[in-house]
Amino acid sequence: MSEQILKIKQAVSKIRSISGTVPEVAIILGTGLGGLVNEIKNKIEINYKDIPNFPLSTVEAHAGKLILGEMGNKKIVAMQGRFHRYEGYSYKQVTFPVYVMKELGAKVLMVSNAAGGLNKNYKAGELMLISDHNSLLLGDNPLAGPNDDKLGPRWPDMYQTYDTELLKLAGSIAKKLKIKLHKGVYIGVIGPNLETEAEYKFLIAMGGDAVGMSTVPEVIVARHCGLRVLGISVVTDMCIPGYLEVANIEKIIGNAARAEPNLTKIMSAVVKEVKI
Ligand code: HPA
Repeated sequence: MSEQILKIKQAVSKIRSISGTVPEVAIILGTGLGGLVNEIKNKIEINYKDIPNFPLSTVEAHAGKLILGEMGNKKIVAMQGRFHRYEGYSYKQVTFPVYVMKELGAKVLMVSNAAGGLNKNYKAGELMLISDHNSLLLGDNPLAGPNDDKLGPRWPDMYQTYDTELLKLAGSIAKKLKIKLHKGVYIGVIGPNLETEAEYKFLIAMGGDAVGMSTVPEVIVARHCGLRVLGISVVTDMCIPGYLEVANIEKIIGNAARAEPNLTKIMSAVVKEVKI
């Protein structure tokens, strides 16, 4: 057994010793977007520090708990708080929990994040369904290094990385709920600083609609191990060259909190309606 699989199994067996829930859906909640956990019934919460091989979350707005329970008719596992490259973790550490959630039983991964808006038709506080992403600025890749074929293929395909059926489902739910939901390309960056005006120009020229410091590594690993993926960004600040304002983390978290009820409504409806 590879060391990677051994580490995953150690984490899974500890989690199983605390909760017997076999999740169908895995959820990663982004900065300031942890409110969906209030919708989880029969909750069992496990601090990351109690799970073998889990990194520890250091960011202020991240609680650092794995939560198992039920939402609607589904068994779920949720990460309240995620890991970022800028905290000093490698992409392998950042994405380790994705393999753990897959090994626990998840078939679908739903991710949310706070992102900067690059599309001039967006406004802070609005939501964007991630139709595609760009990983080319990450500087590294969570799959670099030896590949264990038991986890996934050496050269995973990224065709329709964001599941077509899930995109359709989320779109129709937003329409029903009368919530504005853009659809666009998310560009992953390392952070932790926000970008310069020249960098925003570059990201727009690359075809980005939103930019953020998370999600892409986890989604690459999710596709590696065969999870179907849905991603939603909350646009927390607008990044249009010529119209830039001071964006600080308090403002970003505040806008995330304002958009969160809509995100929660869409995500919980998707969990209920998704066919596993
Ligand atoms: N850039 C990168 N990440 C972000 C931003 C941004 O402007 N806003 C929220 N996360």
